[in-house]
Amino acid sequence: TAVQLALTQVVGAYAIAVLDRNNPDQIVAARKGSPLVVGIGEDEYFLGSDATPIIEFTNRVTYIGDEEIVTIRRGEALKIRTITNIEKTPRIQKLEMTLSQLEKGGYPHFMLKEIFEQPHTLSDCMRGRVNVEGNNITLAGFIDNREKFLNARRIIITACGTSWHAAQIGMYAIEEYARIPVEVEYSSEFRYRKPVIHKDDIVIAISQSGETADTLAAVELAKNAGAFIFGICNVVGSSIPRNTHSGCYTHVGPEIGVASTKAFTAQVAVLTMLAILIGKEKGTVSREEYLNLIRELNLIPEKVAEILKKSGQIEQYAKTFTYAGNCIYLGRGYNFPVALEGALKLKEISYIHAEGYPAAEMKHGPIALVSHEMPVIVIATQSDTYEKVTSNIQEIKARKGRIISVVTEGDQVVRGLSDFSVEVPETLPCLTPLLSVIPLQLLAYHIAVVKGCDVDQPRNLAKSVTVE
Ligand code: M6R
Repeated sequence: TAVQLALTQVVGAYAIAVLDRNNPDQIVAARKGSPLVVGIGEDEYFLGSDATPIIEFTNRVTYIGDEEIVTIRRGEALKIRTITNIEKTPRIQKLEMTLSQLEKGGYPHFMLKEIFEQPHTLSDCMRGRVNVEGNNITLAGFIDNREKFLNARRIIITACGTSWHAAQIGMYAIEEYARIPVEVEYSSEFRYRKPVIHKDDIVIAISQSGETADTLAAVELAKNAGAFIFGICNVVGSSIPRNTHSGCYTHVGPEIGVASTKAFTAQVAVLTMLAILIGKEKGTVSREEYLNLIRELNLIPEKVAEILKKSGQIEQYAKTFTYAGNCIYLGRGYNFPVALEGALKLKEISYIHAEGYPAAEMKHGPIALVSHEMPVIVIATQSDTYEKVTSNIQEIKARKGRIISVVTEGDQVVRGLSDFSVEVPETLPCLTPLLSVIPLQLLAYHIAVVKGCDVDQPRNLAKSVTVE
């Protein structure tokens, strides 16, 4: 009762566990805004903000709802009440996560393990969705809400950080294939800027953790405005999937490294499948195009595996770039968000300042920074803007910039202009990000290792940003 009364006066988000010196067999815990999970073991309970550290002891958990208070007493069943004293029945779930998924499995860092898991995580993400016969894509969250997608006036995608970069790629794919206008919003801006939201808008919220406070608040805002909310999340049972109308899990298993890698590629894969599916149902994607897209999607995991074999080569390049204090990443079209993602990876784990730009924006300002001390990383895979990117590279070369490029296998022109190049297999432009981001993840990883940085737990960063 004391906790209940106190919490009625607390302002803002919290997750709190309270102990009473005179009642040592009892813990009272509560949450609002921040996540709280109780693990139920044999004669023992565990409290955490996430199920990951609990799984070592038990796979039975219950997620505590907003403004709920859980009472844990030795030898007794859990009791849950709301702050306003309404009794709730605990909903106990069995998690499928295994301990081996939480171990490094022989890799020096979780980030490297997670980068190398991507051929499998992409297959897991597409399993049961893209059929192996190569003639169909199914997404349960789409089928159940087909009419809403087909009649959507607009799609708004809201997310933060790496998930926001995936959202940008989703925008390119949905506009190209489904021909629905898309807007991509930073959740932190969207939630406060009084956006215009219509009842026939679809809001897609993307979050690996499913607990990002700003994205959760953006979901609430859009829901209250009457929009249909679709979540793309990784952590099963987390707050965002529980607060959306429908959605799609990415199914990549727990991501432990603070720098998101395998969750990003799976988010892009889900958005691409969604774009193709809406397009096929609307008739904006022809049967031939549909089959070709499916065929290429099915080849992506093995192409990612091919790129991973170049990790040693990228490690050698990394050694020559640790002197850099600043880097620029350039890309166009589908590769522009990849440039943003590559720059974010580098800055968050190696503490080297890096910025991503659309390649053609160089001459509107950033080119002033280029010198022999400034590595420029250019994603220049084959596309209809290849020639334009090549001329951007020539401009950088003329100013003595050092170039690392990501190119399509067999490329001659950009390779010839670059100090270092990494080749990726050919694919369709909309699928390129799934390949071109892999060398950038590896480059950031190896630079950070050479610099002696704590790759899995970079300074000042948390895996789940559960506060504003
Ligand atoms: O869990 P979320 O996907 O909502 O997290 C969003 C960002 O906090 C996250 O992507 C962050 O930018 C990563 N550290 C990037 O590697």
